[in-house]
Amino acid sequence: MKISPDFVQEIKFRNKIDDVISSYVNLKRAGSNFVGLCPFHSEKTPSFTVFRNTETYHCFGCGAGGDVITFIMQAENLDYIGALEFLCNRVGMQMPEDDGKSETVKRSRFYDMNREAARFFNKSLYSDAPGAAEARKYVFETRGLPKSAVTHFGLGYAPDSFSALRDHMRSLGYRDEELAEGFLCGRSNKNGGYFDYFRGRVIFPIIDNIGNVIGFGGRAMGDAKPKYLNSSDTPVFKKSRNLYSLNFARTNCADGLILCEGYMDVIGVNLAGFSNAVATLGTALTEEQARIMAKYTKKVIIAYDSDGAGVNATKRAIPILSDAGLEVKVLHMEGAKDPDEYVRKFGRDKFRALINGSSGKLDFLLNSVLGKYDVNIAEDKIKAAEELCAIAADIYSDIEREVYIAKIADVMKIDTASVKNDTERIRRKKKYEAKENEKRKIVMATMGIGDTVNRDYAKYTKAAHAEESILGMLFMYPEYIEKIRNGSIELSQDDFVTEFDRRVFAALLERGSGGGFGMLADAFSPEEISRMSEMQVARQALSDNSEKVLKDTIDALREAAKNYSHNATDDLDAAMRIIQSKKTKK
Ligand code: CTP
Ligand code: MN
Repeated sequence: MKISPDFVQEIKFRNKIDDVISSYVNLKRAGSNFVGLCPFHSEKTPSFTVFRNTETYHCFGCGAGGDVITFIMQAENLDYIGALEFLCNRVGMQMPEDDGKSETVKRSRFYDMNREAARFFNKSLYSDAPGAAEARKYVFETRGLPKSAVTHFGLGYAPDSFSALRDHMRSLGYRDEELAEGFLCGRSNKNGGYFDYFRGRVIFPIIDNIGNVIGFGGRAMGDAKPKYLNSSDTPVFKKSRNLYSLNFARTNCADGLILCEGYMDVIGVNLAGFSNAVATLGTALTEEQARIMAKYTKKVIIAYDSDGAGVNATKRAIPILSDAGLEVKVLHMEGAKDPDEYVRKFGRDKFRALINGSSGKLDFLLNSVLGKYDVNIAEDKIKAAEELCAIAADIYSDIEREVYIAKIADVMKIDTASVKNDTERIRRKKKYEAKENEKRKIVMATMGIGDTVNRDYAKYTKAAHAEESILGMLFMYPEYIEKIRNGSIELSQDDFVTEFDRRVFAALLERGSGGGFGMLADAFSPEEISRMSEMQVARQALSDNSEKVLKDTIDALREAAKNYSHNATDDLDAAMRIIQSKKTKK
């Protein structure tokens, strides 16, 4: 991390946290703080709090927390440097000049490298490179794309050659290792030579929300396998956190996003007049992607392929989208395998009618259950009814559930009261299970078991607790870190018992806490940052965080640590015994 702490401070100073967050969350004043509905999980009562004096936020519901930089990372789906750039732009600041070796340089070099590659691919489509004429025929005739679409999406062609891109990029000063790290080149196992990764393929650049080219998809023109070749994850590209064409769709999706399977579907849907289409990048829909969509819209229309795989993918996507708080509709397509084919076959007006007539997720689920069974056979009918009741049991709104129950009764020709009874029985069972689950989680959390951030917590509860108190205070008061550095407060890495807390302490010692959580965001995951924010919030709630308290806590940590080295049994065993004894009593 080579961006200076002073510069990060300056960014934070000019981007007041409540200012920035209020363009995402409707904040209401609560004493000296602000509260609102958490943008990171769905909730009905506000537990998201912005602390004015520490310039931090914390959600007491989901545990998300950090400073203005980590907020932007989460909210805009950017990484650390991306968030800094975003905040710089917001207030008209310039990012510092690169010094030639920093992480920033690497990233911006990656972006530049990808942009140059995209430019090269696009130019090659119109050139006399090997296979280019065939590519033009494929793109403009076989796939029937207008030139405007090719330009809009920045499509291109990777020449059928092992070195066309590599030669070009090297002439611009990019090294083989960089090209390989960015998945523009592969490396031969046999002789270690580098070669173009994409060859003889139509190229779809993947662009992030601020316009950086982050990766590529390449389609074979014939029957070459694989049909699509995609960049793997790189330092600037995470498949599970990005959606194709979200950079265009995000500004025009108040009415909903259309979720497709593939690149060509998105383009086809655009040609039908809808720019609010996105696609996952050759992987199944992830929770992260659903959360990202929920930031931009309230509704998603699933427009997956109409084949069996598409229907299954739709079934899997529905709960993921619903859980992110999105209203879900499903496009019902007949006579075409996917939206792209549909648009080409039946035209944009028909497709528009399809979008407007898309059914609710419940109708989709109802039909997919009915499609599986022959309700004239008693056994089948029972199975179908059971599945439908289970679906009804998941409906949160009483009114919606009532309507759906009536519909099931009608379709299945079963008495409404029976459907209702069965549904309520399933609901009770699910509620009970959820409660038990919740209870177990709480026990685990208080015991520190299942703690994925600090895995040593359960083993060394006492010490870990002291460590968190100490770190919480260090986050609050950067001057304590100064004193640790100059020796007037004695504390070293060796005092820390748990690995995670030691790592946090080391980072604080190296960088100071003045830059806030954002300063740590390149070295720690969002969950880890949230945990640090919890440490600080916990201390904030206490009135005495004086140097004396800090020193006492350090003593307490040392005392606890001593016991561990002498005592073979650790807290985890003790915790397990307690849990066991409770179980047997019950
Ligand atoms: N995909 C992939 N790798 C493959 C096949 C598919 O990554 N070998 C991903 C691509 O993102 C593709 C999407 O899955 O866009 C949907 O696949 P498919 O339906 O097979 O492709 P289409 O989008 O219909 O592409 P085309 O019309 O060009 O056949
Ligand atoms: Mn398809």
